[in-house]
Amino acid sequence: MYRNTPTGYGRIAITFHWLMAMLILGMLGFGLYLDRLPQSDPRLFGLYQLHKSFGFVVLALAALRLVWRLLNPSPKLPDGMPVWERLAAHLGHIGLYALIFAMPITGWLMVSASPWGIPTVIFNTLPVPHLPYPEMLGTKEQAEGFFKALHAYGAYLLIALILVHIAAALKHHFIARDDTLKRMVSTEPARSSDDLFSEKADA
Ligand code: HEM
Ligand code: HEM
Repeated sequence: MYRNTPTGYGRIAITFHWLMAMLILGMLGFGLYLDRLPQSDPRLFGLYQLHKSFGFVVLALAALRLVWRLLNPSPKLPDGMPVWERLAAHLGHIGLYALIFAMPITGWLMVSASPWGIPTVIFNTLPVPHLPYPEMLGTKEQAEGFFKALHAYGAYLLIALILVHIAAALKHHFIARDDTLKRMVSTEPARSSDDLFSEKADA
């Protein structure tokens, strides 16, 4: 059961979700930790290369995940959910997807604009070119500061969205007692749509 069905997520979507959830939570913690290290710390250069490398892994996975999402049906939200909750769920997921892309892209723009011109070499193997720096933002320092602020505020917004997202998943599981969390953990709810279709075919 690799593909999604109207009643649940397939194995690929579930793997993308949890792999990226772990990477992104790790990157948020890692970024906040790096920000608190003194500039004189000798490990800083290597640790930033690692942060940037995993950031590009997230960007590549995000692109693949988006393609997979567009090629698959999205499971329907549970019946009986009020309109505002449906809207909140859709907006929440759009916001999460947007930030999964925005975090690595603002990071990339930040290091590209930096007057230090420090190269990015993914896992010490694959060099990444710098993006052209938008001159309308002023000097390189100003552009770097702008993207640095976007990267930091993006991180705080992402943390807030993830907390609401986790609270919503727990509410579905323990209060509404529906399949929402179960279908992001197991492919069984996705398979039950096959049962529905085969029952229809039998009838
Ligand atoms: C999933 C992707 C990413 C996440 C979640 C993430 C998260 C963070 C966080 C939370 C911080 C600390 C922000 C602060 O408190 O000021 C940070 C800093 C930083 N990140 Fe990322 N990051 C990601 C990807 C990237 C990428 C791809 C690059 C570069 C190519 C990058 C470059 C940096 C740099 C240079 C800083 C230090 C900024 C400063 O001096 O304050 N990040 N990141
Ligand atoms: C313990 C942590 C988490 C739990 C319990 C959780 C739970 C869930 C559940 C149950 C769904 C399915 C919602 C539905 O069927 O309508 C979902 C979807 C989603 N989650 Fe999470 N999640 C967690 C962490 C994260 C993190 C860290 C991110 C990324 C920043 C994330 C991004 C998403 C996205 C983008 C979707 C929409 C998937 C799609 O329809 O393509 N989640 N999550």
